[in-house]
Amino acid sequence: PERVLSGVQPSGALHLGNYLGALKKFVDLQHRMQCFIFVADQHAITVWQEPAQLAAQTREIAAAYLASGLDPKVATIFPQSAVRAHVDLAWIFNCVARLGWLDRMTQFKEKTGKHKERASVGLYTYPVLQAADILIYKATHVPVGEDQKQHLELTRDIAQKFNNDFAAPGFFPLPEPLIEGPGARVMSLRDGAAKMSKSDPSDYSRINLLDDKDAIDQKVRKARTDPEPLPADLEALRARPEADNLVGIYGALAGQTKAEVLARFAGQGFGAFKPALAELMVETIAPIGAEMRRLLGDPAELDRILADGAERAAAVAEPILEETRRIVGFWRAV
Ligand code: TYM
Repeated sequence: PERVLSGVQPSGALHLGNYLGALKKFVDLQHRMQCFIFVADQHAITVWQEPAQLAAQTREIAAAYLASGLDPKVATIFPQSAVRAHVDLAWIFNCVARLGWLDRMTQFKEKTGKHKERASVGLYTYPVLQAADILIYKATHVPVGEDQKQHLELTRDIAQKFNNDFAAPGFFPLPEPLIEGPGARVMSLRDGAAKMSKSDPSDYSRINLLDDKDAIDQKVRKARTDPEPLPADLEALRARPEADNLVGIYGALAGQTKAEVLARFAGQGFGAFKPALAELMVETIAPIGAEMRRLLGDPAELDRILADGAERAAAVAEPILEETRRIVGFWRAV
């Protein structure tokens, strides 16, 4: 059966990149495949998280899922740390994955720079836990942004090596990343060469899901662009990263390809395009922020949804963990 697994870390305010690269895709998939969508709190603590805030941040991601349109009766929504099977499988996978594989992970290198020795060990093995998140449900499809591509390749390598080493052909599926469309790589509004990110010090670099109309209008107005009108063809657009990014965002929000957006706006300058983009953003993002605020006003209801989701997720994960333990040869009473 086709099964989707994906998640978002509760490590800062969610932005338009997270929405277009991940959340919007979850919503589009929920009626086509069985979806497990979690809050990656165990990934979040690979860098310091204030204990007094972690649970609130976890609820905030859950609120974003619901406000974006995930239906908790259809999709299973839960906190990662509430389903213990993830870390059990992650340990086994730590013994399957090779150091050389992890040494190649570009995200670890980008995040640590020259100070690798001061990074947590968890940050290093982070992609192994991610593989466990996916395979503990035997998920077949993983909707993510472009930046997660390498982690998905590692997941497939781990699945394949496990199946080979333990002579269990096909036990773990080799999951497919779902990365297509202009929303898979949303860039900073200040720099067309940097991805939109939670950690960018400039708030003008991103649209947050909790931004109101005024903030959105202002950020789009100030977004870096060039003075030329929009071109008619994609080739010319590609040479202009900031313009390319804004056209891509418009397309992802409107459900159009970049070519379709250009067909409408070619020859027009940013004086005309930016207000149209801001209006589209306000129409789609502002209601999500408003709904998040409403949901966060009732944490007990969010907790009920998360607890119910954790129970349903564990009911799927536990038998797969048991089978895995048997394949590995761990002790069990005869
Ligand atoms: P995280 O929390 O960094 O990001 C959540 C999702 O948002 C996507 N994303 C973007 N998409 C387009 N443009 C951007 N600028 C942009 N920035 C972020 C990410 O690709 C991601 O899909 N390791 C994951 C969380 C995770 C996970 C998993 C995902 C843990 N286990 C298992 C899938 C399956 C992460 O840090 O995402």
